[in-house]
Amino acid sequence: MGVNIRGRSFLTLLDYSPAEIRYLLDLSAEFKRLKMAGVEHKWLSDKQIVLLFEKTSTRTRCAFEVGARDLGMGVTFLDSKSSQMGKKESLADTAKVLGRMFDGIEYRGYKQSVVEDLAKYSGVPVWNGLTDDFHPTQMIADILTVREEFGDERGRKLTFFGDARNNVANSLMVVCSKLGMHYCACAPKENQPDEKLIAKCREIAKETGAVLEFTDDPAQGAKDCDVLYTDIWVSMGEPDEIWAKRIELLRPYQINKELMALAKPTAIFMHCLPSYHDRETAVGEDIYQKFGLEAMEVTDDVFLGTQARQFDEAENRMHSIKAILYATLK
Ligand code: CP
Ligand code: NVA
Repeated sequence: MGVNIRGRSFLTLLDYSPAEIRYLLDLSAEFKRLKMAGVEHKWLSDKQIVLLFEKTSTRTRCAFEVGARDLGMGVTFLDSKSSQMGKKESLADTAKVLGRMFDGIEYRGYKQSVVEDLAKYSGVPVWNGLTDDFHPTQMIADILTVREEFGDERGRKLTFFGDARNNVANSLMVVCSKLGMHYCACAPKENQPDEKLIAKCREIAKETGAVLEFTDDPAQGAKDCDVLYTDIWVSMGEPDEIWAKRIELLRPYQINKELMALAKPTAIFMHCLPSYHDRETAVGEDIYQKFGLEAMEVTDDVFLGTQARQFDEAENRMHSIKAILYATLK
């Protein structure tokens, strides 16, 4: 029987089978081919979706907007300043109203329970555009990028260096477990993933043959590595006061030329973005003034180097989000 995820929400990849994830990856590649070939695909012109953002975004918002428009859909954007949600109207009431007007809802915000409640009360598919716990749409773009590089993701070692308990790292551990990859969390013990999530992933790995590795040694993380992945050291929603502690803890996990040299010669660098790789941002300059760091999670030479794939990854957000929208709404 073919894979069918029509009508489903996309809240965490824990809810999706390996076959369903592979189907979304294949569909993403197909949408990329259509876009490159200039073939129109306004196949959902009778649909309307709403995008709710309680945290800021460039890639996710644009990927949803462009993806939806390429599919012929209408798109409404709401942020926390311009809607009643949470202040004058409960989440359940907001979800019930939006579910009457829209065919699907994207949500980016804080607690995972909020995106789950939106799905529960709205009665339409809800897509998680990032919460404190997970960033599942990012994963389809990321593994598509891995496939484009290596052909098959299975057995490839992907190491996350940095805050290995953040939303992106959590989702990477889940997707690598589902797809039979080798996932390595390379971080100090304070930033290693939550034990409960590790236990869930270990169960999944038993079925898929995935390998899970946890280390605080950057050289071990880079050893035999195909994909060196990192993310900012302080995520949206975390207090600014945490920077000093994070810099102290995560400085040894910066991806730089020396670390790249310890990985396979064919290895690539990936980053979900945005990134602090120089002093060209307000935060980057502020951190330089306070701590003397020219770059944080990745150095500029790696970011601009031949092994870097983060802009392919960013483009793939659009193709993969289009696949998720199409598969759940068609
Ligand atoms: N990677 C990602 O989600 O980027 P934005 O925060 O710009 O959406
Ligand atoms: N961990 C980052 C990811 C941004 C896409 C954050 O939550 O800010």
